[in-house]
Amino acid sequence: MKTKAAVLYEANSPLVVEELDLDPPKEGEVLVKIGAAGICRSDWHYMAGESFMPLPAVLGHEGSGVVEEVGPGITSVKAGDPVILSFVSRCGRCHFCTIGRPNLCDVHMSTSTTMLDGTYRLHKGDTNFTPMSKLACFSQYSVVPEVACVPCPKELGLDKAAVIGCCVTTGVGAAVNAAKVEPGAAVAVVGCGGVGLNVVMGAKLAGARQIIAVDISEGALEFAMQFGATHAVNPGQQDGPGRVREITGGLGADYTFEVFGSAETVEMAYDMARKGGTVTVVGIPADGDVPSIDAVSLVRQEKTLKGTYYGSAQLQSDMPRMVDLYMNGQLDLDALITRNYHLDEINEAYADLNRGEVGRGVITRFD
Ligand SMILES: NC(=O)c1ccc[n+]([C@@H]2O[C@H](COP(=O)([O-])OP(=O)(O)OC[C@H]3O[C@@H](n4cnc5c(N)ncnc54)[C@H](O)[C@@H]3O)[C@@H](O)[C@H]2O)c1
Ligand SMILES: [Zn+2]
Ligand SMILES: [Zn+2]
Repeated sequence: MKTKAAVLYEANSPLVVEELDLDPPKEGEVLVKIGAAGICRSDWHYMAGESFMPLPAVLGHEGSGVVEEVGPGITSVKAGDPVILSFVSRCGRCHFCTIGRPNLCDVHMSTSTTMLDGTYRLHKGDTNFTPMSKLACFSQYSVVPEVACVPCPKELGLDKAAVIGCCVTTGVGAAVNAAKVEPGAAVAVVGCGGVGLNVVMGAKLAGARQIIAVDISEGALEFAMQFGATHAVNPGQQDGPGRVREITGGLGADYTFEVFGSAETVEMAYDMARKGGTVTVVGIPADGDVPSIDAVSLVRQEKTLKGTYYGSAQLQSDMPRMVDLYMNGQLDLDALITRNYHLDEINEAYADLNRGEVGRGVITRFD
């Protein structure tokens, strides 16, 4: 069949929206009509030549849709089911899947630029198109692994389902699964975009007493206060770590999060943590942008520096929890989604992301 998709042919040039050929689903795969796709900075890293995958590629890894057709052997979903799409397709058998870390699945990682069987579903003539995260959801339709589909209720709405597919699970999970923020903690979140706002909401859910939003955009800081931040710090205008120490009675924060993706902001989050504090890195810096951490302070101040991928989540069970938290009014995803776009407007959507427009943009129209 044909599908209209946004193609990255070359870094630092606009995505091209055009018609591609899409193969039918093979065994263990599902054809999904994409309902919504979020504008996440992880796609931008490839567009800007900061991260690399074979090109041409169809990006989009924060998505949702409705199952249109299933391939052979599918039992967990059927045509008509709304699904959240997981940007990691766990194999269920590798070391990391069997120890309960499906977000780190080796088989998914070793086939990171193809489908699980090493082949492609999107083509044009002889050219194959890399499907980002096996989802390629900047497209009207996509063929995805069955294991990438997390069924969700119709009442959720496909825009909310899409953001649960990345920024919500990543951000809330960073606070509750990875850092394990506890009631009464002081938290600093460096970078309050789509993912960082979810770290703020996760810290609030965990009962943090201070949640310090740190961002160079005044708009992002004001917006973060609506999601539970108690203080705002602009490191473009003041000494960020110094101000965080002031707010926390001279100590530094118990938990800090880096949610932009640069060596400089990793170092800032590290400096903002108190002795014995935990620094959790969520953002993905450009390849080769390496933070410089003073190992002596790491030892003498007993800091913990850790990374978290996909909110260190149990994807199939944590995403339904995020759905319930939204349905119960404990995660404000309606306020999080600030902009809707047509697929044809995808380059403007990324320009808005880079201009620092607040909240999350989502593509909701694909016709
Ligand atoms: N670990 C994971 O599994 C995972 C998942 C999704 C996204 N990510 C990464 O998380 C990062 C954030 O993604 P996003 O979609 O929220 O991006 P975003 O563009 O929506 O938000 C980034 C925020 O950082 C702010 N910022 C920029 N420079 C800053 C500085 N020097 N100091 C403080 N704040 C600064 C921006 O103003 C913006 O508000 C990206 O690197 C993305 O690739 C990681
Ligand atoms: Zn993402
Ligand atoms: Zn696995």
